[in-house]
Amino acid sequence: MPSFRVATPDHSYSAIVERDVIRHIAQHLPKQTGKVFVISTEEVWRYQGEVLARGLEGIAHEVLYLPGGEDQKRMAPLEKLADEMVQRGADRTSMVVAFGGGIVNDMAGFLAAIFMRGIPVVQVPTTLLAQVDAAIGGKTGVNLVSGKNLVGSFHQPLAVLIDPSVLETLPDREYRSGLYEIIKAGIIREPELFEYLARHSEDVLNRKPEAVDRIIAESVRMKAEVVSSDEREGDLRRILNFGHTFGHALEAETSYTRFLHGEAVEWGMRAAVYLSQLTGHLSAEDAVEILETLQLYGPIPPLDGLSAANLFARLVHDKKTVRGKVHFILAVKIGEVTVVSGIDDRLVREAIDSALV
Ligand SMILES: NC(=O)c1ccc[n+]([C@@H]2O[C@H](COP(=O)([O-])OP(=O)(O)OC[C@H]3O[C@@H](n4cnc5c(N)ncnc54)[C@H](O)[C@@H]3O)[C@@H](O)[C@H]2O)c1
Ligand SMILES: [Zn+2]
Repeated sequence: MPSFRVATPDHSYSAIVERDVIRHIAQHLPKQTGKVFVISTEEVWRYQGEVLARGLEGIAHEVLYLPGGEDQKRMAPLEKLADEMVQRGADRTSMVVAFGGGIVNDMAGFLAAIFMRGIPVVQVPTTLLAQVDAAIGGKTGVNLVSGKNLVGSFHQPLAVLIDPSVLETLPDREYRSGLYEIIKAGIIREPELFEYLARHSEDVLNRKPEAVDRIIAESVRMKAEVVSSDEREGDLRRILNFGHTFGHALEAETSYTRFLHGEAVEWGMRAAVYLSQLTGHLSAEDAVEILETLQLYGPIPPLDGLSAANLFARLVHDKKTVRGKVHFILAVKIGEVTVVSGIDDRLVREAIDSALV
């Protein structure tokens, strides 16, 4: 059973990657706990609730639902849910189990962070993206009208329980969206993982259990290591944003409706690869290898009608802009990236143009 330690200044916890771990969830919950509040969505519960409910037999618990969907990732549903929790007997000894994709992990995690000034949460991610990314690292929050994830808190979970078998019901597009974040993990820090993805795309795309379990475990290990040495947004954690500066611009430009997060990151990684090459950081050979590997897992929806000028303007306004300068994560080789600022606008525009073709 691969188990990875996430050590932050607040506390340390395990991210466990194990098939069927949700059947045995009871073993991973603290013995001395009050009522357990499972927070999910009706959709996730329909697909995967039965298995979790069986795992919780004999433990006092309630299941509550969030609406789901990026447009519902807001404060209002959380306030409603907090009231529901109180009505059903929640108190300071209660605990949250966040059971769903990244939206549920972020929202339920944030609710746990602020409910009665903070109660524990166990993260049980059910999408590939959430298993390798959103559920690990303690970032929680919701969107504002003004932008994504603008209200939130760091709230590290008691544990992250990652059960690859829940992915069997995940739609193909969602699955591939998560795969792009795994390719990202390979590019930024894990050359062997990248190699594996480049060579075994068929097994990975067919969700062969050994392949799925392996790439999840490697990505979780990577994220656990990065978060452990750098809980907040320091230089190391910043490498996780490879492809995201461009990707966020694409998501915003298309109002978060046309591309899934991982798909936007796929496009963003292509732009980042072009920029890495244009600035002399990355060899043509490595650039081609990355672009070809991304293609194996594509395509993403068409990029028709997108304006390079608009994307560039979005990018300059990205919230990760530090003191007026945009910081780019550029690839140096497969398995290594570097943070660079002060890049000529002309080159950034050129990279966007190339990625739009
Ligand atoms: N906190 C972080 O560090 C972090 C990192 C990355 C992303 N995020 C956040 O994650 C969110 C995106 O997460 P997501 O991509 O998981 O989207 P999501 O939570 O919307 O889930 C995607 C879809 O998959 C369905 N689904 C979930 N599990 C399923 C299963 N096992 N079987 C069938 N269907 C299932 C959901 O109902 C939903 O329709 C964004 O809001 C993003 O901001 C947070
Ligand atoms: Zn991401």
